[in-house]
Amino acid sequence: MVRIAPSEVAVASVSGFREVHRIGSKYTKSPWYEAIVPSPDPILFSMSDARKHTARRKLFAHGFSAAALRKNWETVVSQKAEAAIANIRREAEHGTTDVLKWFVLMATDVIAHLSFGQSLEMLETGEKSQYVQALETALFSDSLRAELPWFHAMMRHWPVKRIRDMVHSSDGYILEYGKKAIAAARGQEGGRTNLFANMLAEVDEKDGSSLTDSDIQWEAMGLIIAGSDTTAITLTYLIWAVLKRPDLQKRLEAEISAMEGLVTDAQLEKLPLLNATVDETLRLYGAAPGSLPRTVPFGGARLDGLFLPGGTTVSTQAFTLHRDPSIFEDPESFAVERFMDKATLSEYQKTAFSPFGAGARTCLGVHLAMMELRRGAALFFKQCTGARLSEGMTDEMMKMENRFLIAPIGHRCEITLQ
Ligand code: HEM
Repeated sequence: MVRIAPSEVAVASVSGFREVHRIGSKYTKSPWYEAIVPSPDPILFSMSDARKHTARRKLFAHGFSAAALRKNWETVVSQKAEAAIANIRREAEHGTTDVLKWFVLMATDVIAHLSFGQSLEMLETGEKSQYVQALETALFSDSLRAELPWFHAMMRHWPVKRIRDMVHSSDGYILEYGKKAIAAARGQEGGRTNLFANMLAEVDEKDGSSLTDSDIQWEAMGLIIAGSDTTAITLTYLIWAVLKRPDLQKRLEAEISAMEGLVTDAQLEKLPLLNATVDETLRLYGAAPGSLPRTVPFGGARLDGLFLPGGTTVSTQAFTLHRDPSIFEDPESFAVERFMDKATLSEYQKTAFSPFGAGARTCLGVHLAMMELRRGAALFFKQCTGARLSEGMTDEMMKMENRFLIAPIGHRCEITLQ
């Protein structure tokens, strides 16, 4: 346990992690979450009030279950993964292509389609839509305001318009576009539907759940932020880690090419090597491995034998747990074998392996993310057999930049089929 700021401690033990994140834990999300999310009221991701969070999460739970996602959205996910891989293959056959770019467009378009009931068509245009650009500006501005308020205030009055624009609110556009999510939820979009449609039917005022039009607009935004770069970055690291190991690449290509016909997610979930590769990627390169700050409950609490005053921020990080040699042997090496037979994992390892967080605040989109990771990777190794990293790609470029989500510092990952 290390004190990293006057009122913040970082905790690296499995027992500390379990206590802070277990179901029923009194540790709540710290105010940092509300500060970085550009919505007027807290959304599912940022809510610190446990009662309100439970009621809202109940509304989301069914639509994000593996069964509901497979029934309602597997075709959309597959089509978008196919479009992304087709673009990758086309470009790689004629030179090089940046897989990160295509996976960002893929994952963003998947979650946008589920949220708005229609595609943003970014895989067709090859560019981020205006909505996604507005989101990026809003997120950048709010993160800056949360982390460096004085600098944010200075930038708002900077004499250069381009700098001012970077921190100016894009709320108007985000809200306007968010109306599509409301219309689809209410069945007013020419038969199109979205994730929110069933949630409205499940609102139950008795248990305190509610979902106003404004909530839908902002929750749609939240889902797009939470569900786009996360999946895209993890999938990019998976491709990179495998292409660096040609033996593993060949074994994966063989496992996937042995499958015939239309393969479902349920079938992909049974492929041992593919799934072990996804898990090992999530261990070393899951996209949110950094601090997950929580507030110590009123009155204080004992953690790993130490008393922490109420209001202290406690942060745990998957990065540290996943690289602890007492938990995972030879932790820095990318070794898919450790996940080939899940029955061999100890309880200790299972608790420590937390790329999606844990407890009541565990990732809502885990099943969607896994579906995209499996489908994206399977299609890549089927359609892009023999792919190689481009000559210009260095390990240095794939080192992690950490801003809550990680990203390769080179901001691209180029491959070729030539
Ligand atoms: C590989 C991809 C992903 C990774 C590594 C990931 C990781 C995480 C982590 C670590 C958390 C916990 C954050 C915390 O405790 O502070 C989280 C929460 C969340 N994630 Fe994901 N995520 C991924 C994909 C997705 C997708 C596709 C969605 C789509 C909807 C999504 C939606 C959310 C939401 C809404 C929460 C907040 C849940 C709550 O507080 O109840 N994530 N994610």
